[in-house]
Amino acid sequence: MALTNETPNSAIQGIGESDQFDASLFMEPGSTPVAVSVRPHRAGLEGHAATNSRSPDAAMPQVGPLIDRYGRVHNDLRISVTDRCNLRCVYCMSEEGMTFLPRAELLTFDEMTRVARVAHELGVTSIRLTGGEPLVRRRLPELVSNLAAIGFDDLALTTNGMQLASMAESLVNAGLTRVNVSCDSLRAERFESIRRRGDLATVLGAMSAAEAVGLTPLKVNVVLLRETNDDEILDFAAFARETGRIVRFIEFMPLDAQGEWDRDRLVPGREVFEQINAEWPLEAVGDHVGPAPAERFRFADGRGEIGLISSVTQPFCGTCNRLRLTADGSIRNCLYSDDEHSVRDVLRGGGSDDEIAQILRRSVWAKFPGHAINEPEFLRPVRSMSMIGG
Ligand code: 5AD
Ligand code: SF4
Repeated sequence: MALTNETPNSAIQGIGESDQFDASLFMEPGSTPVAVSVRPHRAGLEGHAATNSRSPDAAMPQVGPLIDRYGRVHNDLRISVTDRCNLRCVYCMSEEGMTFLPRAELLTFDEMTRVARVAHELGVTSIRLTGGEPLVRRRLPELVSNLAAIGFDDLALTTNGMQLASMAESLVNAGLTRVNVSCDSLRAERFESIRRRGDLATVLGAMSAAEAVGLTPLKVNVVLLRETNDDEILDFAAFARETGRIVRFIEFMPLDAQGEWDRDRLVPGREVFEQINAEWPLEAVGDHVGPAPAERFRFADGRGEIGLISSVTQPFCGTCNRLRLTADGSIRNCLYSDDEHSVRDVLRGGGSDDEIAQILRRSVWAKFPGHAINEPEFLRPVRSMSMIGG
């Protein structure tokens, strides 16, 4: 049966209305299911053993942690709870005409929790909820509380902050441990021109509200775009020094829905480092060998910290420990790989936890060594950031 926005929920086994959206707020006219093809992220590698992840592979471990062919242990699961968003950031979505998944295609909270529980048994210790914008999914604190009961070391959320102020307390009470708030400009008008909807004052208010309920230190994600907000690097560094919030500068990645990514529009992390270091000397924090993508630096005079997420110019694939669950229930082993394994079919087809575990293991085992953005044969992923989960 083809699923459309009109498909009654009752037609789909296990779908409840309770945690779904108020669709009228976010539905674009003419929304259609997103077609996703399965292909590797480099041209000409279709026959590569790693892409043929559905065939049995005797070398794939059946016990122990989620490990790939390159020895990378995966203990960080990102769950996208929705592909919808109340903003339309220029580096992520198009202004009009975004199409979103029909509600029936989204995993329910119970389904997400089940996958997370199996992942936990396979050694996943850290969960991050993403989107789209996770807080537009109704009753998100219920999911947080279900996940908290499993016992992860870290249960974090990435949000645009528009609805965080009113929800921060219930999220913390449900067991949320950390939050990242996206904010690409400290100038009100520019903020609105980058994000197309929403406003700076609300997001700054959300940061304070999150801190007031103990979500500290708060991280602030800044996507830098050449000739758009790259004159605010020092302003954001000063902001980090004044507020104690950890500002993370993110390179623009080829994951925008409009397909307008261009290398000339990204601001290399190295440049950010040099500019800030010349004004306020920086010192590296930690040893940079862990899996965290951000290179961390503190100000030498002891006031605050910044992070550089240089995914394009200095890929951190070699230490990647992440896998993703998309809002429509596919396990994805890399932002840049379209090789997806649907777990929803197993969930809704009465499959066992062992079958879910097999999908997680196969997906990780199929992972490529790196994203290949800097190689000529690189293929842009079919899905854009908001459809995968950031
Ligand atoms: N490049 C870099 N970062 C992006 N984000 C969304 N789209 C892109 C892109 N094309 C960021 C958001 C948010 C995080 C989830 O990903 O700003 O901070
Ligand atoms: Fe929404 Fe986040 Fe994408 Fe901006 S970056 S449009 S806030 S999902």
